[in-house]
Amino acid sequence: MKTSSRPTLQQVETFAREAGSLLLSRFGQPHDIQYKGDVDLVTEADFLSEEYLLKAISSTFPDHRIITEEAGSNQLESPDTWYLDPLDGTVNFAHGIACFSVSIAYTLNGIPELGVVYDPVRNECFTAERGKGAWLNQVPLRVSQTSEVIQALLATGFPYEKDARLLRNLRHHNHFSVHSRGVRRFGSAALDLCYVACGRFDGYWELVVNPWDVAAGSLIAAEAGALVTDVAGDPLVFKMGATILAANPRLHPLLKQGLQQSN
Ligand code: IPD
Ligand code: CA
Ligand code: CA
Repeated sequence: MKTSSRPTLQQVETFAREAGSLLLSRFGQPHDIQYKGDVDLVTEADFLSEEYLLKAISSTFPDHRIITEEAGSNQLESPDTWYLDPLDGTVNFAHGIACFSVSIAYTLNGIPELGVVYDPVRNECFTAERGKGAWLNQVPLRVSQTSEVIQALLATGFPYEKDARLLRNLRHHNHFSVHSRGVRRFGSAALDLCYVACGRFDGYWELVVNPWDVAAGSLIAAEAGALVTDVAGDPLVFKMGATILAANPRLHPLLKQGLQQSN
């Protein structure tokens, strides 16, 4: 059925679950790997998932703009814009490590309205609707209450480019490895944000993220009560190479301070 209206959360969840099943069907098989950079990979599963999502979304919402990691933009101009990461955690996937997700955000006039991140291995579907809340498999989510950095379990990610931002993040990583309960590097930014949303992680930061990595997860974290900004504490902007800091509101200023100290 063709409509150009607003999608429902249920529709977005269906798209994410279908794409996730495609990923799962290829997981653990030999992969066709191409290199986008020295360590930046793409597999046949990224393309398979993306092809399905592009077809499903554009046939249901033909006027909407779609921005997706591998194919780029569908060249339409519209206030209704989707950000798709068909496989977040490609390096894990390519190595047979069961930590990856599908990430889909629907935005209106630049504001995320609906977000879904689906982990097909664990059948965990994280969803959010702006102003209404965030859920994991329909159960409402809330961030942790941790207010001391030494009691906080944190997450980060490192850029593919081996440049000054990577070195800077190593300094942040060192700082928080000493001052927090621990720092995890799971390899899926979308899941890192969802884990903040459900309180598994107390905070997450990263220095180089793209809109498809964080558009859905940032809404899910914010709707679960997280403060989500850039690392300077300013509003998060969906642009290439953005920074991000998400944490429960008690911890957020302390993490921002720690990042500044370890610059
Ligand atoms: C990457 C993952 C990783 C993060 C990188 C992302 P990809 O996405 O989310 O955790 O550290 O910044 O680019 O390439 O697996 O879709
Ligand atoms: Ca990604
Ligand atoms: Ca990806």
